[in-house]
Amino acid sequence: MSNPTPTPNDLEAYWMPFTANRQFKAAPRLFVAAKDMHYTTHDGRQVLDGTAGLWCCNAGHGRRPIVEAIQKQAAEMDYAPSFQMGHPGPFELANRLVELSPADLNHVFFTNSGSESVDTALKIALAYHKAKGEGSRTKFIGREKGYHGVGFGGISVGGLGTVRKQFASQLPGADHLPFFYNRATMGFSKGEPQTGAEAADALESLVTLHDASTIAAVIVEPMVGSAGVYVTPKGYLKRLREICDKHGILLIFDEVITGFGRLGSAFAATHYGVQPDLITTAKGLNSGTVPMGAVFAHDRIHDAIVNGAPENSIELFHGYTYTAHPLAVAAGLAALKLYKDEDLFKRAADLAPYWQEAIHSFKDAPHVVDIRNTGLVGGIELEPRPGKPGTRAYDAFVKAYAKGLLVRTTGEVIALSPPLIISKAQIDELFSILRDVLKDTP
Ligand SMILES: Cc1ncc(COP(=O)(O)O)c(C=O)c1O
Repeated sequence: MSNPTPTPNDLEAYWMPFTANRQFKAAPRLFVAAKDMHYTTHDGRQVLDGTAGLWCCNAGHGRRPIVEAIQKQAAEMDYAPSFQMGHPGPFELANRLVELSPADLNHVFFTNSGSESVDTALKIALAYHKAKGEGSRTKFIGREKGYHGVGFGGISVGGLGTVRKQFASQLPGADHLPFFYNRATMGFSKGEPQTGAEAADALESLVTLHDASTIAAVIVEPMVGSAGVYVTPKGYLKRLREICDKHGILLIFDEVITGFGRLGSAFAATHYGVQPDLITTAKGLNSGTVPMGAVFAHDRIHDAIVNGAPENSIELFHGYTYTAHPLAVAAGLAALKLYKDEDLFKRAADLAPYWQEAIHSFKDAPHVVDIRNTGLVGGIELEPRPGKPGTRAYDAFVKAYAKGLLVRTTGEVIALSPPLIISKAQIDELFSILRDVLKDTP
């Protein structure tokens, strides 16, 4: 199957997100179909998906049970209002989801994206403290290099300068933990770095600075994804939990990437054995097929807000027209069933050691200065070209696409996160293409 190459004029109207629009439109890369582990390009080539789309298609592409569930739902009921009305789907989906979530996170608020999940969780944290009579707790603490989507709440707790700087004057105040990673001591760690947990103690200093009575919540990604795949040091998250507990601060794990099997368990919280108060998710929830996110809330938080309000009043003035959209819900139910039927989270855990060895075999590949991995995630960091940061990894990404492999780059990091259905042979193929790419990238 081959489609005509679009002209620059055909591409003008669509203002693309997080894309160098003029550079892209001069040499577009378009996908027109996807099945299992592969995309088909508009010029008819097969591209191995090394990134599960954008960290989301955990069950692979074009999976029949999900496709059929969406088709059936679209024919049966396209939409149902979500305010003061319901349909059976989200009640069932929430029940299935809380079977997977850590103990006591038994309530689910649906959204349509990771950004909305983050802003929803921040609002729930504020509403919780207010319901408990601690309305002075209004500050949030994120972490340098954190990515929490693009809402104003998400970018205020986010710690990526590039994402914040155009909007800096309008960001609600938040403070940030320092970044925990030190390449000199943690570089080339296989899985969790064994040292560095003490970086979490910086939270104590922030609490002293702001006073616990002003702090609502700390939000972190349990594994830093978008900034370039950095695995938190052993014991770091546990330490954050302890400090939050000591000061009555809520702990939010942003699991938009790590949720639904990426690390080999349903959630990173389970994987690391650390229980947050709120978990934000999206992406893998329905394997990226229909926009959907969800926030998991601890019973204590839900009950304080919901049971604390008069029975005939809306307890949380928050929600979206498309909260629990029937198509997203149908896709979610089908994806969760597929994850279970094919035991895909365990599959990711079983493949992780093979993946780890394959990625660390790049230690002596050209330009490589660091390699990081956990579960079915990997980051290969390249030496920047003098005076031209980011261009080497970007060139590698374009070359990989030409050679039949989709990777993602952020700065000088090549990030990998394939669908959980990848086979060992496909892992070998992925790294063999990437090795050629790096050899060809000056
Ligand atoms: C940890 C994290 N939070 C939030 C988001 C935002 O999700 P979305 O792009 O669906 O709004 C992302 C997206 O990559 C993410 O990685």
